[in-house]
Amino acid sequence: MLCDRVRMDSYYNAVFDNKHHFDGKIVLDVGTGSGILAIWAGQAGARKVYQVEATKMSEHPRELVKANNLQDVVEVIEGSIEDVTLPEKVDVIISEWMGYFLLRESMFDSVICARDRWLKPTGVMYPSNARMWLAPMRSRLAGQKMSDYEGAMGDWLCFSDETKTYYGVDMSVLTKPFSEEQKKYYLQSCAVVGC
Ligand SMILES: C[S@@+](CC[C@H](N)C(=O)[O-])C[C@H]1O[C@@H](n2cnc3c(N)ncnc32)[C@H](O)[C@@H]1O
Repeated sequence: MLCDRVRMDSYYNAVFDNKHHFDGKIVLDVGTGSGILAIWAGQAGARKVYQVEATKMSEHPRELVKANNLQDVVEVIEGSIEDVTLPEKVDVIISEWMGYFLLRESMFDSVICARDRWLKPTGVMYPSNARMWLAPMRSRLAGQKMSDYEGAMGDWLCFSDETKTYYGVDMSVLTKPFSEEQKKYYLQSCAVVGC
């Protein structure tokens, strides 16, 4: 995220163009990582910011908070958002949880859990909504996957024939489940490709 200018600018502008949402308010940064979102919330006037980070990465935001003189406002809490207990409910939840195709990285559920546990009924979410754009497409990757699948099935049939011939065991009854497994976990699974 830190190297993604578009994303950084979007969060920065969202916070500082909506200072009234942060000024004097209690904020929660879910999965704080480097901690920059919490620091912006503090700079925008938040009364208190809780940064929750599941990993040992939490040592870095702690240092960053001190270096930016926000130690009286921003508090780092190490633990997963599903387990930690905050001292109070919050007015704002900010989080950078989006992955490839929005949902990859599986953080969405954690943000929803944070909302249900800790957001005041009058509270706001940053971001509050998202759009997913879908379009059918054809790529050479699909053809490649199909030929890999056919190759795997060819290998299986050879294996099955040889096992019968050399080892006296008929494996052909497993051909259908093998094919279904290949389809489910390889052929029909998503491919993440760069543009
Ligand atoms: C995409 S990064 C966020 C980047 C962050 N905004 C920054 O400025 O570096 C997601 C972070 O959330 C943390 N995380 C993921 N699931 C979590 C959970 N359930 N509770 C707390 N932290 C979580 C990860 O360890 C990771 O540091």
